Amino acid sequence: LTVYIPIDAAALSLGAERVVAAFRREAEARGVTLDIRRNGSHGMFWLEPLVEVETLQGRIGFGPVRPEDVASLFDSGALASGDHPLKRGHVADMIWMRRQQRLSFARVGVLDPLSLEDYVANGGLKGLQNALAMSPADVVEQVRASGLRGRGGAGFPTGVKWKTVHDAQADRKYVICNADEGDSGTFADRMIFEGDPFMLIEGMAIGAYAVGAEKGFIYLRSEYPHAAQTMARALELAERAGWIGANAFGPGKHFHLEQRIGAGAYICGEETALIESLEGKRALVRAKPPIPALHGLFGRPTLVNNVLSFAAVPFILAEGGQAYADFGSGKSRGTLPVQLGGNVLRGGLIELAFGISLREIVEGFGGGTASGRPIRAVQIGGPLGAYITEKQLDLEMDYEVLAANGAMLGHGGIVVFDDTVDMAKMAKFAMRFGAEESCGKCTPCRIGATRGEEVVEKIIKGERVEQNIALLRDLCDVMAAGSLCAHGGLVPSPVLSALNRFPEDFVPAARKTAA
Ligand code: NAI
Ligand code: SF4
Repeated sequence: LTVYIPIDAAALSLGAERVVAAFRREAEARGVTLDIRRNGSHGMFWLEPLVEVETLQGRIGFGPVRPEDVASLFDSGALASGDHPLKRGHVADMIWMRRQQRLSFARVGVLDPLSLEDYVANGGLKGLQNALAMSPADVVEQVRASGLRGRGGAGFPTGVKWKTVHDAQADRKYVICNADEGDSGTFADRMIFEGDPFMLIEGMAIGAYAVGAEKGFIYLRSEYPHAAQTMARALELAERAGWIGANAFGPGKHFHLEQRIGAGAYICGEETALIESLEGKRALVRAKPPIPALHGLFGRPTLVNNVLSFAAVPFILAEGGQAYADFGSGKSRGTLPVQLGGNVLRGGLIELAFGISLREIVEGFGGGTASGRPIRAVQIGGPLGAYITEKQLDLEMDYEVLAANGAMLGHGGIVVFDDTVDMAKMAKFAMRFGAEESCGKCTPCRIGATRGEEVVEKIIKGERVEQNIALLRDLCDVMAAGSLCAHGGLVPSPVLSALNRFPEDFVPAARKTAA
């Protein structure tokens, strides 16, 4: 009997290890030979632990499986072809999966993340092989043609960034993968580390070849111990297989890749703070320009991309830039791995081509709120993203459409709130978060976020509400215009969107009635 039980941290947190132990116990008691394989998660978190069983009809899914369900799975004959209430059929045939366009996440959940054979058998390495058969400039051109934009949040054209580093003259260049996935409600980077780490290594190798770098760093947040462990092992295996390391790109053409772990500061997700941290310094943001593409790690041209940007690259080089650009809408080409969470019935990872409506994601995929109450607000793009109203859910997932409507996609995190949310408290939380995670280098952010929290608190208490709202708006103006980096610059976004779109929560009379 061959059984797949996810090793992804989401599945582990829902009891996957106890399910493994239960399968072992039952199989032993029944004299059944058991082969347990560990895969990543397909991203349907409400079904985790989602166990798949190899049958004559293919891999059949059961979920969510608790340890106490395992005996009945054996008894019912469901592990061969019988029925069971937890039976979900072929995972790939489930509506939730069929309605997606999985390019970057095609293998996540399917294969053993640490099997080189599985990786190659499922189309891995084709992109790197194609890239090495081209000139570096042609690789950059494919990425430009794909229309890929930085998936860390800023949406800067990846091809332009790669060309800048490619064209720069220097004795040494670097590539860095920004895996400091600090936004609340995001987990796509982690899933790639735990479900398909070779893909990230392949994407970075293609990047290094394209820009002419011999050294790369993966900067991972310390809060992801399972991801760190899987990636460390994947790096060893990839080096042993010769995909990275000495002469990886041909005789005398090396690519050494190392993983470094952060120390828990959100600001390390900002690329210049990350570079400072990699250099062994305190993570203080640097002023830009100069941009890292020209003056980055140790003063050398450095290609810094987010995990999801690198993760899109193997497909682009395997199938051609145009194949990626064929997905999407307007200037938002390709797909975005959306992370749906908060008060939602079916949360998880959904990779979709741009152009789909937010309602389709939140209601179609997500099934509305977990509480069953009406949706009131949705925050997109992490803790510094704007809150939108239920009516705005008809907006399309598209960088420009959202920007025109006072919102941003960020790293693709979508967090749902029902009608019990208190938006004044959410505004206060945004200021608190801004203050807590500020690097302290510039005054508008360092002082502004702390004063901002105090002002929102006064509004909540009903103190001189009109004057304090005016003061809050003024403060937000200063922070947005005067902060050195996007951290302080974006804190006003959740605050002002809460204030402008949910003004009733800031009115003392309404607050009293609600209380
Ligand atoms: P940015 O707009 O300054 O730069 C975007 C990227 O393009 C950077 O890597 C920059 O170095 C590069 N770049 C700019 N001009 C270039 C040129 N001419 N040639 C080559 N490269 C060039 O944005 P920044 O400050 O890096 O990021 C801000 C964004 O980060 C926000 O919009 C927000 O959405 C997002 N964000 C993401 C978070 C996460 O956890 N992933 C957290 C907070 C914010
Ligand atoms: Fe540091 Fe905040 Fe200024 Fe950014 S805006 S440089 S995080 S103090």
